Amino acid sequence: MVATYVAVTLITLVLMCVYILGILSDNLYSEKRTALYSKANIISQTVSDMWDMRDENLMSLRIQDITERQLAGTNIRGVVTNTTYNVLYDNNSESNMRSKVFMRDVLKRALDGEQANSAFAADSGDTLTVSVPVEVSGEIVGGVYLAENVSSIGETVATIRTSLIVFCIVILFLSVLMSVGASYIFTQPISEFVEVAQAISRGDFSRRAKVQGLREIVQMGEALNMMCDELNALDEKRKHFVSDVSHELKTPMAAIKLLCDSLVQADAPDMATVREFLGDMSGEIDRLTRLIDKLLTLSRLDAANKLNPSRVNITALCGGVMRSLKKIADEKNIRLSFDAAENEIYNVVDYDKLYESVYNIAENAIKYTPSGGRVVTRLRANDRVCIIEVEDTGPGIPDEEKPKVFERFYRLDDSRARDTGGTGLGLAITREAILLHGGTIEVVDGEFGGSRFIIRLPMVKEEGDQS
Ligand SMILES: Nc1ncnc2c1ncn2[C@@H]1O[C@H](COP(=O)(O)OP(=O)(O)OP(=O)(O)O)[C@@H](O)[C@H]1O
Ligand SMILES: [Mg+2]
Repeated sequence: MVATYVAVTLITLVLMCVYILGILSDNLYSEKRTALYSKANIISQTVSDMWDMRDENLMSLRIQDITERQLAGTNIRGVVTNTTYNVLYDNNSESNMRSKVFMRDVLKRALDGEQANSAFAADSGDTLTVSVPVEVSGEIVGGVYLAENVSSIGETVATIRTSLIVFCIVILFLSVLMSVGASYIFTQPISEFVEVAQAISRGDFSRRAKVQGLREIVQMGEALNMMCDELNALDEKRKHFVSDVSHELKTPMAAIKLLCDSLVQADAPDMATVREFLGDMSGEIDRLTRLIDKLLTLSRLDAANKLNPSRVNITALCGGVMRSLKKIADEKNIRLSFDAAENEIYNVVDYDKLYESVYNIAENAIKYTPSGGRVVTRLRANDRVCIIEVEDTGPGIPDEEKPKVFERFYRLDDSRARDTGGTGLGLAITREAILLHGGTIEVVDGEFGGSRFIIRLPMVKEEGDQS
């Protein structure tokens, strides 16, 4: 990462320097060129104004006068020629070309009517030349040639280049420092997070990331650790679940096996014994079937994770549950009552899932309430929530057990519950279904010492409002 960062910085700096130097030197040259053109044009204009003087000597003197005034204080060489390249004036006293032929490419182009310029390197340094025509009444009569030594531009650019190189070295050094720092701050924790994630993918949920550094990194680490905790808990639950399922399946199978073996080993069992044994076996098979049904319901709830909602008359739904449980309640001599608001209550729910949920808690209430007791189901609703309560006069549930009864396979009094045919899955199924509706379920102490299960469902007005 450090090498990439440094390489990117280096490339950026080099490109930046080349660009800056290019623009700078272009600007300096262009400024000089403009200044030279402006002088050349002034000279050309003035020469043009006095061109028709009869006295050539006088004209020459005037040209010299104008040109010298324009070029005073500069190191510009100025030459004025006629169209046959004969020099009318040359300010270079050493190589004074006066009356001689002065032939230059830019001058030739000027005499062809162009404003020409060129730059070249001479022994004396970089030189910039410009040349403009002298026109009289639209006719080219001569040319002005100016040449200036511009080595100072090269020197300025070289000085700036040196400064830029120093600046780049400093920036590069700082960027190395910063990238090492950044790698320490970001890369190291992230590589550790990656290691933890890889451990998770291998099924090892015990690894935790070190949480330190920047706030975002700390948050990321905490989130990862939290995910590990949850995955760990989930994994534990899964292992428990599998062992619970195996145990629950083994018990009836062992009983059936025992009954079969007893029948096989009996010498001449009478019909009544055979019937009794087969009856017991049938009971165990019923138990197995109930267990498998509930496991299937649970796995469907886990996997599908979606509802089939419709507008349901909740009052009628609860009434239906009461009717179907009436026979069991009567057999146990338990008084079953349904206390509902006068107006029927409608809500958008999954009919089957809610029916099963209410059935489960009402069935439990009957199952765990001793004979002669009471079970009351209440239904209320307002704009926001619909509340279904089932209260019994049974033994109640101790406070520390209350949250556990919703766990899979949890039975308060294992042997007693098993005797009643309980699989310990009813409330787990109910909770899953209620949570899917966006509702809650809880158990509190009932008014008469028993327990009160409370289902709260959000009121949904229209089908489709619900997820
Ligand atoms: N109304 C109640 N009063 C007292 N204990 C209860 C009541 N409802 C549930 N329980 C306790 O909670 C446990 C879990 O109930 P749950 O309905 O999940 O399983 P179950 O009734 O044993 O079996 P099933 O899967 O057939 O419903 C029960 O075994 C019982 O011990
Ligand atoms: Mg139950």
